[in-house]
Amino acid sequence: MSSSQPVPPSAQKSTESKDQDMQERFLIKLGQDAQAVEAMLEGLLAPTPRQSELLRPDTLLAAMRHGALNGGKRIRPFLMMEVARMLGQDHSGVLRAACALECVHCYSLIHDDLPAMDDDDLRRGQPTVHIAFDDATAILAGDSLLTMAFDILADEATHPDAQVRAELVLGLAQNAGIGGMAGGQSLDILSEGRDRSEEEIKQMQAMKTGALLRYACEAGAILAGSTPEIRQKMAHFGRIIGLAFQLADDLLDVTATSEQLGKTAGKDLDTQKATLVSLYGIGETRQKLAQLIKEAEDELAPFGDKADILIAASRFIAQREH
Ligand code: IPE
Ligand code: IPE
Ligand code: MG
Ligand code: MG
Ligand code: MG
Repeated sequence: MSSSQPVPPSAQKSTESKDQDMQERFLIKLGQDAQAVEAMLEGLLAPTPRQSELLRPDTLLAAMRHGALNGGKRIRPFLMMEVARMLGQDHSGVLRAACALECVHCYSLIHDDLPAMDDDDLRRGQPTVHIAFDDATAILAGDSLLTMAFDILADEATHPDAQVRAELVLGLAQNAGIGGMAGGQSLDILSEGRDRSEEEIKQMQAMKTGALLRYACEAGAILAGSTPEIRQKMAHFGRIIGLAFQLADDLLDVTATSEQLGKTAGKDLDTQKATLVSLYGIGETRQKLAQLIKEAEDELAPFGDKADILIAASRFIAQREH
């Protein structure tokens, strides 16, 4: 059919119902994976010290549990697990690696909320860790979640091949550190109240948020033992949805309520954060998000129907309401 011919209503309807079906299957999987992540984190954050540990101090453990077992969409673990599944890999080590990434994400949130950073008192509908405990405990809970992530990845239970484990560790270290999330957070803080160009903001976002989302997708390919080409393709897909993720986060900061978000809305304007929404406005931001979904879909096109759930995930990321 030539593209100039109108789409018959029956074909349109079937596309719509396929989209709806994909979305439903995605939400079910997201929920199932979130439950599996929650259960594994619960085990990793149990009170009994592991063989190599001397003691798990009660207050620190309680703060780590507060920061990590308090809901959250668990989108990063989901992406890692779904990329691995799409590429034919579904072993329990994938869940472990996914939990390691979630530990880093939770640490980043605990530190992001500290008074010296965004100074937020609400996260995932609960008091932030430094409010429920104190600043020092929140800093240490973040530190301990970060190091726990590498403990999990380096363990043989994550993957029998030491080369794969080393690649997972290397990737997480690089994406969480100065050239990734932490570096992006520094740029974010230094941009408060300052004019920044579109390119500068995109760079900052690609680091503070994009890096961990890109890692989620790339690690799925590493765990699946994919070729360098597929690994790169997944990393590129992750880069696109990383940008969409922060764009949606900044949009929600303006359009949603604190109740919907479980964190304080309207903060970016209050603290004069440099965001793309402040450059584009709401309407153009929505258009950019639609473009990014299209780019993500194009990247996944070679995988055919196997990529349906990831396509639905990118739509969710761009159109989410919390
Ligand atoms: C919030 O991340 C912080 C950003 C990187 C924008 P999420 O929106 O994934 O937060 P949770 O994990 O669902 O709470
Ligand atoms: C946080 O970005 C990115 C992180 C690395 C944690 P934001 O500061 O916008 O995240 P929220 O809005 O507090 O969740
Ligand atoms: Mg921040
Ligand atoms: Mg913040
Ligand atoms: Mg935000």
